[in-house]
Amino acid sequence: MASAKSPAQRVRRLRDEIAQADNNYYLLDRPTLPDAEYDRLMRELQVLEAEHPELITAESPTQRVGGTASRAFRQSRHAAPMLSLNNALNEAEVAAFDARARDGLARAREELNEVEYACELKFDGLAVNLRYENGELALGATRGDGAVGEDVTANIRTIRAIPLRLHARARVVPTVLEVRGEVMMFKREFERLNERQRAKDEREYSNPRNAAAGALRQLDPRITAERSLRFFAYGLGEMQGASEPPTHSDLLDWLVALGIPVAREREVANGIAGCLQFYQAVAQRRASLPYEIDGVVYRVNSRAQQQLLGFVSRAPRFAIAHKFPAQEAVTQLVGIEIQVGRTGALTPVARLAPVFVGGVTVTNATLHNEDEVRRKDVRIGDTVIVRRAGDVIPEIVAVVPERRPPNAPIFTMPALCPVCGSHVYREEGEAVARCTGGLVCAAQRKQALLHFASRRALDVEGLGDKLVDQLVDQGVVATPADLFKLGVGALAALDRMAEKSAANVVAGLARARTTTLPRFIYALGIRNVGESTARDLAHHFGKLDAIISATEDELLQVSDVGPIVAASIARFFSESHNREVVEQLRAAGVHWPESAPTRAPPGRFATKTFVITGTLPTLKREDAKAMIEDAGGKVAGSVSTKTDYVVAGEDAGSKLAKATALGVTIIDEAQLQKLLVQ
Ligand code: IVH
Repeated sequence: MASAKSPAQRVRRLRDEIAQADNNYYLLDRPTLPDAEYDRLMRELQVLEAEHPELITAESPTQRVGGTASRAFRQSRHAAPMLSLNNALNEAEVAAFDARARDGLARAREELNEVEYACELKFDGLAVNLRYENGELALGATRGDGAVGEDVTANIRTIRAIPLRLHARARVVPTVLEVRGEVMMFKREFERLNERQRAKDEREYSNPRNAAAGALRQLDPRITAERSLRFFAYGLGEMQGASEPPTHSDLLDWLVALGIPVAREREVANGIAGCLQFYQAVAQRRASLPYEIDGVVYRVNSRAQQQLLGFVSRAPRFAIAHKFPAQEAVTQLVGIEIQVGRTGALTPVARLAPVFVGGVTVTNATLHNEDEVRRKDVRIGDTVIVRRAGDVIPEIVAVVPERRPPNAPIFTMPALCPVCGSHVYREEGEAVARCTGGLVCAAQRKQALLHFASRRALDVEGLGDKLVDQLVDQGVVATPADLFKLGVGALAALDRMAEKSAANVVAGLARARTTTLPRFIYALGIRNVGESTARDLAHHFGKLDAIISATEDELLQVSDVGPIVAASIARFFSESHNREVVEQLRAAGVHWPESAPTRAPPGRFATKTFVITGTLPTLKREDAKAMIEDAGGKVAGSVSTKTDYVVAGEDAGSKLAKATALGVTIIDEAQLQKLLVQ
């Protein structure tokens, strides 16, 4: 206890415990102290230091945020220049780099077939140089132009991931050690920061790198401290008093021993094939990393070979950045169009001058809703930054205000639906504006029909959007029930249709007549009723007529149905035209098995959780999922101790391995089918 020891001893103890906790959290990624306990230790240390100011030292964790705001940063000349990397944008460029490296080494009479490369991530942050003198952090500087940067030591000291003192337990602690690496903001922190900015009505940051740059260049270190920056090392600057490890991977291990964070995702690979494998593996995991990267870096692993290869102008010949296709690009916004969805929601969509981003050409980006357009202040004619990450719908990150044409008008939602001319209304507290036209609105009608026919609903094969456009525009089909009146002749007369494709659609409709109650309810497209609510309703009431005549109170008895959903359902069936469509569908022969009502969600898979992995021999993953869910089971994305069955197909990978490790029952498709009919 504190009282049993001298204040000096207690202070030392507290500093050790805090440094250890930082080390576990930032270096080992293994938090050992709850935040509250960490804060308690920190407060105790602050109190002790306030009582005994003579005990305060520069490396005390309380001194991370020291001094006051300055007016400008001092310039700082780097002891060794901070270089940059050449980029490879495709495999051919990586191959050319490898060939140059092998050639260079062969000329230096190095015997080798394949070069050994250290592969690591290319972090999307800011390069900094950390200078430790006699084990203590003495300077933190930005890269600047590579020769001269800015002295941001006061801010760097607030980054808890960066040790103020090197660990003495490393083999050798050099007298001077400059560590090069990247300061970053993690994605979660970036989102939190933008939430705070929004709450304060202040401008949001467009990406984590800009946010990190903003945080690092704050004149008041207290602000930097609030923004929880992180750091990963990737190299060395000047060093005195120790010799360099023989390989880059040894160097990184040594930095870890000194207490410097190094990202776990790194590998030593043989030749270019190993490098490309690393690239693919990282590309797959990219979205799930907690921070942004924009590629990977390959570096000749041996220091001796690095020296043989040397530099060309300002970049090394021994390393290259293999970049991912850019996820952000600048283009022009040529228009804002309004799309009308199935429930009448009006979505502003940006029409863009075509731009290549994230590996594809993008011409549209969603603007979500009116508030979003206002918040980002997007106007027609603006130069905008477009982002496309993975399979995500492209979005506009920000506009470049300096390039705005004069008199660009502020966007407003139209008062009338651009498709049917009905009034547009926006409920209080809702971000979405809606067309009031309902099924009078051709856009809503088309979307409703497409939803009705979609795979998870009645699954009508061959009914695509081009066909639905024609059927609605020519007044052939108004409601889903009209679909079942279509004959081969009428369909074959339409554009892009022939006898055979028309017959396929009719056959698809015939098959769709036999369905299940959950699918039918879902197909109706009732607002706020997704697949799982449809299933719950079907199980609870057993019969469609019971749902149609249910009061809001009765609907509230269904598990997971709250007042908003109950009101939506009741409102839908209170409209006579909706009840008529249901009747016409039944008259057209659409049918499903009905059952007695059950209270608990039934099905033999109730409460059972499945994970599907690999390629199944006959079932598409989506179908297997639907079958399991129809039987009341849940399908999860990852294996845990809560998983009951893993359904494994061909090429099942890590999920299968995890299931085996956890002792989860593993079945194949045939066994699943058996379980389903038992
Ligand atoms: S090595 C002499 N490794 O990319 C080699 N750089 O264009 C110097 N970067 O300014 C850099 N991750 O900001 C290296 N694993 C990594 C990196 C990395 C990000 C940045 C760094 C540098 C730029 C190089």
